[in-house]
Amino acid sequence: MIHSRIAGTGSYLPPRIMTNAEFAARLDTSDAWIRSRTGIEQRHIADKSQASSDLALEASRRALQASGVKESELDLIIVATSTPDYVFPSTACLLQAKLGVKGSAAFDVQAVCSGFVYGLATADAFIKSGQYQKALVVGAEVFSRILDWNDRGTCVLFGDGAGAAVLVSAGKPGIHASVLRADGSQADMLSVPGNVCGGAVTGSPFLQMNGQGVFKFAVKVLDESARETVAAAGMQLADIDWLIPHQANVRILEATARKLGLPREKLVVTVDHHGNTSAASVPLALDEFVRAGKIRAGHRLLLQGVGGGFTWGSSLVTL
Ligand code: ACO
Repeated sequence: MIHSRIAGTGSYLPPRIMTNAEFAARLDTSDAWIRSRTGIEQRHIADKSQASSDLALEASRRALQASGVKESELDLIIVATSTPDYVFPSTACLLQAKLGVKGSAAFDVQAVCSGFVYGLATADAFIKSGQYQKALVVGAEVFSRILDWNDRGTCVLFGDGAGAAVLVSAGKPGIHASVLRADGSQADMLSVPGNVCGGAVTGSPFLQMNGQGVFKFAVKVLDESARETVAAAGMQLADIDWLIPHQANVRILEATARKLGLPREKLVVTVDHHGNTSAASVPLALDEFVRAGKIRAGHRLLLQGVGGGFTWGSSLVTL
C-alpha cells in the first residue's frame, strides 16, 4: 500500500511587525483588551508589493530545501488561500511559474482557515492513489487586505504569512487519517460577503463575523474532529505528541486542549506572535516548532483547521 509523509516544511512571515499598541493609538481598544480576549500580542503585515503568491514562494523554497525535493520533481501544487492574487488564474499556477517549473497539476483550495488541512488531505489522497509522488501544499494569506481597519472587533485578530509542506510517497504513514467536514448553513457566521461584478465590488469586501458564535462553534467541532480523526487512525488521544489547531485565539486553543484532556505542554501556540493567519496558521506553527527542534521526526501530530464555510477538519500525522 502507498502512503504519504511530510518530507519538509517551510514558512515565511513578512518583516513588518504590527503591535497591539499601534491599534490602541488610533482605535478605541487597548493592548490589555486584545491580549486578554485573544492572546495576540503582535502580527506580521505584508508590504503592498507582496501578494499571497510571493509569501507562498518564500515558504515553498524553504520547504523544498528542507525536504531535498527539487521544484522540477513536483507533480502536484496545492495552495490554500482566501486571499488569492487574482480572481483567476489560481495562486497555485502563479506559484508554479515563480518556482520556474511547469507541467505539474496546480490548483487552489478555498476552505478559509481549514484550507491547509483540506489541501494536505487532498494531496495525501492523490499520493495514496498512486497518481502523484511529490506534492507541495501551501497555506498563504494576506488577510490584511480584507479587513476593515476601523472595525476594532475584527482588525486586531489577523495577520499575514505563509507555510508549506512537501509530501512524498512512502511505504508507511506519514499521514494516518484525515477527516474533513463542512456545514454551509453557517456561511453567514464568518464571511467576506462580496464579489467583483461589472467592474465594481458588489456586497462588502471586508471580513465580518459573529465572534461569540465562531468561538463556540470552533471549540465544539475541534473537539469532535480530533476524536473522529484519532479513531479513524486506530489510535488514542494519549498517542498525540503535539496538537496543532488553527491559530485563531489562544482561548479557543486552550479550551480545545482542555476538552480533549491534553496537557498544555502538548499544545502548539503561535497566535500570540502571528495573529490569525487563516490557511497559513497551521503550517506556520508546524514549521516554527520543527525549526526550533521541538517537533521532531517520529512525533505524532494532530493538525486541525476550522473556519469560514463553516469548514473544519483534522489530519493525524507521524512526522
Ligand atoms: N477592543 C476593545 N473592545 C472591543 C474590541 C477591541 N478590539 N472588540 C470588541 N470590543 C468590545 C465590543 O464592542 C463589546 O462592547 P460592548 O459590550 O460595549 O458592546 C465588548 O468588547 C465585548 O464584545 P464581545 O464580542 O462580547 O467580546 P468577546 O469576549 O466575545 O471577544 C472576540 C470578542 C475576541 C472576537 C471573541 O468572540 C473571539 O475570539 N471569537 C472568535 C473569533 C475568531 O477567532 N475569529 C477568527 C476568525 S474565525 C477562525 O479563525 C476560526
